[in-house]
Amino acid sequence: MEKQSTKQEEIAEWFDNTYKQRANLYLRPIEAYEVFLSLLDPQKGDKLLDVACGVGRILQAAEKYQIDGYGIDISKQAVLLAKKNLPNANIQVANAETIPFPDDYFDAVTCIGSLERFLSLETALKEQIRVTKKGGKLCVMVRNSNTLRWQILKKGLGMVNKKGHQGAKGLETWTSIFENLQLQIINVYRDQWPIKKLKKWSTLGLKKVDYASIEAGLLPIQYSGEFIFLLKKK
Ligand SMILES: C[S@@+](CC[C@H](N)C(=O)[O-])C[C@H]1O[C@@H](n2cnc3c(N)ncnc32)[C@H](O)[C@@H]1O
Repeated sequence: MEKQSTKQEEIAEWFDNTYKQRANLYLRPIEAYEVFLSLLDPQKGDKLLDVACGVGRILQAAEKYQIDGYGIDISKQAVLLAKKNLPNANIQVANAETIPFPDDYFDAVTCIGSLERFLSLETALKEQIRVTKKGGKLCVMVRNSNTLRWQILKKGLGMVNKKGHQGAKGLETWTSIFENLQLQIINVYRDQWPIKKLKKWSTLGLKKVDYASIEAGLLPIQYSGEFIFLLKKK
């Protein structure tokens, strides 16, 4: 037990240092988060919790929806930045494995690029399910282990960032994790940001990119670097 809490502190420290050095630039720009919101389609006044919120990007993108935004993150430095970016949101330092909110509290929960960073993925997911209302939606983005980048660079050459507790799993494994926790998989999509980025660059920023839409990529979804799962609490 003691060993686990020390390790958790090391992970938090690694993220604190990363946010100190790179601040908002550590994460994708705000427009990259529009797609998660378009999938969730939140209504005015809905309560949305972003688990491992980082600097608050998804809640920034959600401001136009007039939702009630909440965020938690284990990094004190991330929370400082998120509070600056979102003075009106409820952001606090907390561990995703013990979410400090009552059961059935949120209409929607998001967890982007973070699930595989938690020490106990299952505990953290159960917590997300607990705080989501029955019939509420969850949107998570998780890393794919079946990519050349992960297999060669990360696993093969040992470049996995252990201090930041970086992890990845294949599509089938992720699917069974969600199904075993009795979540309904509404749909699974490829990460949209590489496609949108390409569109932005190839048009030299002259054409408006629709960041909220879902696009089919050229390669099968199995090759996507990350998967976006849209889930429902039964
Ligand atoms: C790659 S960043 C993603 C941040 C944000 N979701 C985004 O996409 O903009 C991973 C985040 O997970 C947070 N994190 C890692 N372990 C955590 C835990 N056990 N509980 C809460 N947050 C955690 C880190 O501090 C970091 O902000």
